[in-house]
Amino acid sequence: MRTVVAKLLLTSMAVPRVLSGIQPSGELHIGNYLGAIRNWVRDQYEHDAFYTIVDLHAITVEHSPKELRRSTVELATTLIAAGLDPKICTIFVQSHVSAHTELSWLLECTATFGELSRMTQFKDKGKNDESVRAGLFTYPALMAADILAYQADLVPVGEDQRQHLELTRDIAIRFNTKYGTTFTVPKATIPPVGARVMDLMNPTKKMSKSAQAQSGIIYLLDSHDNIAKKISRAVTDTDNQVKYDPPSKPGVSNLLEILSACIGEDPETIASRYSRYGDLKKETTEAIISVLKPLQQNYFELSKDPGQIAEILEIGANKARVIANQTVSLAKENIGFLAP
Ligand code: TRP
Repeated sequence: MRTVVAKLLLTSMAVPRVLSGIQPSGELHIGNYLGAIRNWVRDQYEHDAFYTIVDLHAITVEHSPKELRRSTVELATTLIAAGLDPKICTIFVQSHVSAHTELSWLLECTATFGELSRMTQFKDKGKNDESVRAGLFTYPALMAADILAYQADLVPVGEDQRQHLELTRDIAIRFNTKYGTTFTVPKATIPPVGARVMDLMNPTKKMSKSAQAQSGIIYLLDSHDNIAKKISRAVTDTDNQVKYDPPSKPGVSNLLEILSACIGEDPETIASRYSRYGDLKKETTEAIISVLKPLQQNYFELSKDPGQIAEILEIGANKARVIANQTVSLAKENIGFLAP
């Protein structure tokens, strides 16, 4: 009797499921790590965590097949090197689980043309260009499928993906209302402060893979010399005061923000310890290197054995497939498809 009660309690108090995705396009940088991946690593201990490398999303824009394959392996290796533990969380490649594309169609037929047209990411990237891939337009329905297929409760995303998550919620609610309860309606999780890393050369812009100059970006696999060089050349200002004030001192504030995210102290407190930009830059360099060193060591160890990465991804896809297929079956039944 007691075990039955305990089990019932356990199922009703199930840990929330978290799901997030990242595109295999371009090398990861410290903004990706401090803003997202580090939180994923932490979340895996508290939640039932699923992380997917979204290669289907990567083909919505011009791409090279060879590069895509290379980036996918590199990203998987980096995520594991950064601390995602395949024994604790589920890491998989989106295209390995065909349920994503299948569910995506049902959701494209639940979302409207108007809703997809209002997505700011499409408006920015699409720019009324006739040659834009149709998949870039329907991209948010695929993202909704990624999330809803797993009945995810929580989705950690950056500010730029908020609107897509709102749409995911709307689609889930509409589907549930029209066709019967099928999906968990997910919530966005707010990333902790101190995680907004800007470009070192252009500190009013977010550090981004698509930036023109590489000198403003610290890649996770950069050599220590390179990191030191990039930080020493980072744009500051001429008033020679170490102060945290992003609107009027974006460069210095960005260094403080990065250092803060690395050592876990707030930027104002850190600022009060320095009177010279050179010293701030020196400590920032050291802090970045000590954060990245273990990751880089793990990366080089892992890359000696590509078979191991393939195996991890296979196990991940097998686990993911079971859950996603269940959801797709239910969605197909509820939408009115004849059982095969
Ligand atoms: N669109 C997201 C981005 O570009 C990536 C993504 C795809 C995603 N599917 C997802 C994020 C599901 C969270 C959940 O950053």
